[in-house]
Amino acid sequence: MIRSVVKGCGGYLPARIVTNEELAKKVDTSDEWIQQRTGIKQRHIAAEGEFTSHLAIKASERALEHAGIDATDLDLIVLATATPDETFPATATRVQAALGMRNGAAFDVQAVCAGFIYALSVADSLLKSGTASKALVVGAETFSRILDWHDRSTCVLFGDGAGAMVLAAEEGTGASADRGVLANALHSDGRHHDILYVDGGPSSTRTTGFLRMEGREVFKHAVVNMAAVVGEVLDKTGLTSKDIDWLVPHQANKRIIDGTGRKLGLAADRIVLTVDKHANTSAASIPLALDTAVKDGRIKRDDLLLLEGIGGGLAWGASLVRW
Ligand code: UT7
Repeated sequence: MIRSVVKGCGGYLPARIVTNEELAKKVDTSDEWIQQRTGIKQRHIAAEGEFTSHLAIKASERALEHAGIDATDLDLIVLATATPDETFPATATRVQAALGMRNGAAFDVQAVCAGFIYALSVADSLLKSGTASKALVVGAETFSRILDWHDRSTCVLFGDGAGAMVLAAEEGTGASADRGVLANALHSDGRHHDILYVDGGPSSTRTTGFLRMEGREVFKHAVVNMAAVVGEVLDKTGLTSKDIDWLVPHQANKRIIDGTGRKLGLAADRIVLTVDKHANTSAASIPLALDTAVKDGRIKRDDLLLLEGIGGGLAWGASLVRW
């Protein structure tokens, strides 16, 4: 049986850090409110002229270096973003050119905050089917460009960044049959469009638009859907929550993450939390959290990771990965 085995990961955050206190000087908010309601203390914001592709390229270079794989050996890039450099072509093709990858295909997927789970699932399928042999999966965003900086209910929640993972198709035999991507579960429900969307786009308004969110409504769906989808992905493998070494969730709100952890019966020190430093970086949040815990030595080879996320669409999903 062919498995998509993880070879390495990387992350990149723009240099500029914006604290809650700095935001409180611009909109009617406070460090106390933001920390209490979300767990966020700061976020990174891309510089003028620093695009989603630039963040993605840096994260990808680090992931390839960590994996010890040359870009010329890649034959697939799947990049998750809701903030592409341009309407077309895919931001993934910018990354492809910059890395010097010549073979195979590079394309974007769009599932907002669930984007990394979707991209990982697509890459996993293409690796398992033999369509590709070495894949780079990227989540990269510059949400600062689609925020209404006068809307305190959204502008304090997001940040910019990118994370990447390198996967290789390997014939799993013996112990290695149990490594890599073990299962994925994807869902969407377009009836909930209006609770989280961007009020612009090339076909509707010919503008980029701004993010609009009914936070409380999204919160309710997040709690329910995350509990269901993590159960679903575990059921697919016959594993239980007791087998999980690390929950690596989408980083939107510490309260949502804590709720999922409680439902799984996981101790707080088994949950990778980066929302305090990165805020919500949409498709980049899961690979950034993953990279943080791999590089600081918490996540080790053979650990079982549960990745999950939900966002606009609504779209949500989960993946089980043996590191
Ligand atoms: O990544 C995509 C998925 N997104 C999510 O998962 C986000 C899910 N939602 C959330 O994380 C939370 O709903 C929020 C953090 C967005 C909001 O927290 P909440 O506890 O649901 O607050 P709320 O929206 O119910 O607002 C409570 C109060 C309101 O005032 P009133 O009406 O009670 O007087 C808001 O106007 O907080 C007020 N408020 C703020 N106050 C200070 C809203 N934003 C702010 C702010 N600073 N930035």
